[in-house]
Parts: sequence; C-alpha cells; structure tokens
Amino acid sequence: MESRREAPSPSKGVISSCFVFRAVKGIVLHGGAGTRLRPLTHTGPKQLIPIANKPVSQYGVEDMIACGIREIAFVLGDVHPEKVKEYYGDGSRFEAKFAFVTQGEPLGIAHAVSLCEDFIGDSAFIVYLGDNLIKGGVKKYVDEFLASGLDAMILLTAVRNPSQFGVARVAEDGRLLELQEKPKNPPSNLALTGIYLFRPAIFDAIRRLQPSWRNELEITDAIQTLLESGNKVDYRKVDGWWKDTGTPEDILDSNRLVLDGITPKIEGTLEEIGSIQGRVALGRGSRISKGAVVRGPCIIGSDTTIGSGVYIGPYTSIGNHVSFSRGEIEDSIVMDNCRIEIGNRITSSIIGQHSSIITGKATSTGRLSLTVGENCVIRL
Ligand code: DAU
Repeated sequence: MESRREAPSPSKGVISSCFVFRAVKGIVLHGGAGTRLRPLTHTGPKQLIPIANKPVSQYGVEDMIACGIREIAFVLGDVHPEKVKEYYGDGSRFEAKFAFVTQGEPLGIAHAVSLCEDFIGDSAFIVYLGDNLIKGGVKKYVDEFLASGLDAMILLTAVRNPSQFGVARVAEDGRLLELQEKPKNPPSNLALTGIYLFRPAIFDAIRRLQPSWRNELEITDAIQTLLESGNKVDYRKVDGWWKDTGTPEDILDSNRLVLDGITPKIEGTLEEIGSIQGRVALGRGSRISKGAVVRGPCIIGSDTTIGSGVYIGPYTSIGNHVSFSRGEIEDSIVMDNCRIEIGNRITSSIIGQHSSIITGKATSTGRLSLTVGENCVIRL
C-alpha cells in the first residue's frame, strides 16, 4: 500500500502525475496470436502453456500476489479467452480479486494497457506480459518503485539478440536516454523485459501514440513519450534470469530453468525406493512402477502412472492423469491426460493435452522430437 505522494514539480510538457496513490494493482496480458507456438495455440492462449506443470502466466500472477497486490486485471485476446477466465476464476483461489478486460485483436501492448484505465483509477500498477518469466519475482522492484517518485520503471536485461526486443540506450553515467522498439541497429544489448511499473501518467502518453510499423500501439513508444515529456522514468537491471516464452525452444528453456529450482516432494507412490534419482516432485495419486527410473530435476503431476521399464530423464515435466506405459523421455513437457507408449526416446518435445504417442518396437532406435497440439493421436 502506498501513502500520499508529492507530484513531481511541473515543467513544460510533463504529463500530469498529480494523483493520490492507493493500492498497487496488477495487469497481466493474455492477448496476442501466439503464431510461433502453433499448433499449441490453436486450442488455447500461449500464456496458459504449462512450464513445470503451471501456466506461464501464473508465475507472474503469483509474483504480484507475493508483493501484496490483490487486484489484478487479465487482458484477454481472441485466442480462447474463455479458457483464461475458466482457469483463473474470480481470484478467490489466490486470495485476490480478478477482473477480465477484453482486447480481442492484438492492437499492441499499450492498447491493452489503455483498456485498463478505469480498473487502475489513480493507483500505481505493474504490467506483466503473460508470457514472461523472471527468477526471484518482482517484490524488490515494486517496493523501490513505490518508494520513488517515478512515473515508470522498466526492467532491463542483457540479451544476445537485442533487435528482437525493445532496447534501451543508457549514458555512461547510467542515465536512461532513449528507448526503441525492435531497432535494426540496436544502440545497446539491454532489452526491455515485459515487466513494467507505472503510475497513471502512462495513460496520457498512450493517448499521444500513433500505431507503429507493425500497426500496434507500442508500450516502448509510450514510455519514450514519457521520457521526452520530462516525466521521471528509470530502470533496474534484473539480476537473475528472465525469459520471454514466444517459441517452443523458449518454452523448453524456461522449463529447464524452473525445474533447476524445484523442491523435491513425493506425495505419490514409489513401488521401489531406488527408482528416483535427484530432485523429483511427484504428485498425489501418481505411481512410479517397479523397474522405472526417474532422474531429476523433474516434476510429475497427480494421478499419473509411470510404467515398469520407463525412463524419465532430467528436465521433464509430466502433467496430471498421464499414462506413460512404455519408452523414454527427457527435456520435454507432456501435458495433462496424455498417453505415451513408445519404443523410442522422446527428447526436447512438447506434447499437448489429451494426446497419444504410440509407436511399435520397429522404430525403437530413433529419437523423437515433437511439438504436438491438443487431442492428437500419433502412431508410428
Ligand atoms: O518480452 C519482452 C518484449 O515484449 C519487449 O522487449 C518488447 O519491447 C515488447 O514490445 C514485447 O515484444 P514482443 O514482440 O515479444 O511482444 P508480443 O507481441 O509477443 O506480446 C507480448 C505479450 O503481450 C504476449 O503475452 C501477448 C501480449 N499481447 C500482445 C499484444 C501485441 C497482448 O495481450 N495484446 C497485444 O495487443
């Protein structure tokens, strides 16, 4: 919670930030087309793809709740928005209050944020892109932002491919000079992560925007407008890892990063004590049969059966109600209600819910690397 703050001294062009700030609120974006994650996004938004058995966006929601944020708006796109509502509900499961705002067509992150103006009122707020993950949460940034008189705080991180992100130009003395969205010639390797802290001045900056070359209202341009208007904008560099989960490779990378920090917990049944090696989380009602080997770090959900002779290798997440009766797997995600019965090893794969992968013994030498959508049957 935040008490009354002085407005920054007015100067020419500064967008008014004279508000009495009350509770901090949150916005999580669930729009966008998710084309790079097809076929997984034919049947649901990318933000609900599970990483270590939890939807990507839930990490952001839980980070916000850990900061004491109790009111969160979910901006919904046109890829199965009802699934987001159904999963999150009214927020009571998270001891919070959730609201849903419809964006439909992806007209830009700034457009999505602008739709939440009434929800935000005069509060300070955090915007989390629902496909972003950050190690260690955001509490320290939220606390610093609330203690500051800033209108916007962005989180930056060094990346190898800056032209695929919003990029910051920073002076030698550390001052933030300029922000550019996906520049061809990036002025630095410092990318904007998809986590932003704002005060309501951002809404006036968004009103001044024109659509970009990709016909979107860019949040990077809105923050640049604040900078140019003399509003107070600053940044922090993130000190742990950060991931944007836009592609299957990013999803598997994130799965590895999250599983690296997993706490072992066995709630299901091990028919043989020695079948588990390393850090493994096994959910209630699940069974690892005699003769199976599960090598962590990995997570297995509830009511899942791992058959005799099956090998589950490191960096694998297996969901609930999965029947894995034959074969090997590593570095993969198998979602809920799948059936796996193979003579091969599956590696670096993502298998959507309710899908079956069944192979005969004849293909037992090859490795399978698959991205399979929901409700598919693959027989080889
Ligand atoms: O991930 C960080 C990057 O996110 C930043 O460095 C960029 O400055 C920022 O523009 C954004 O770039 P992307 O091109 O990766 O954004 P993308 O279109 O993938 O959308 C990011 C998230 O926001 C994703 O969860 C979908 C959601 N979204 C996006 C748009 C354009 C919406 O909810 N509505 C939208 O209209």
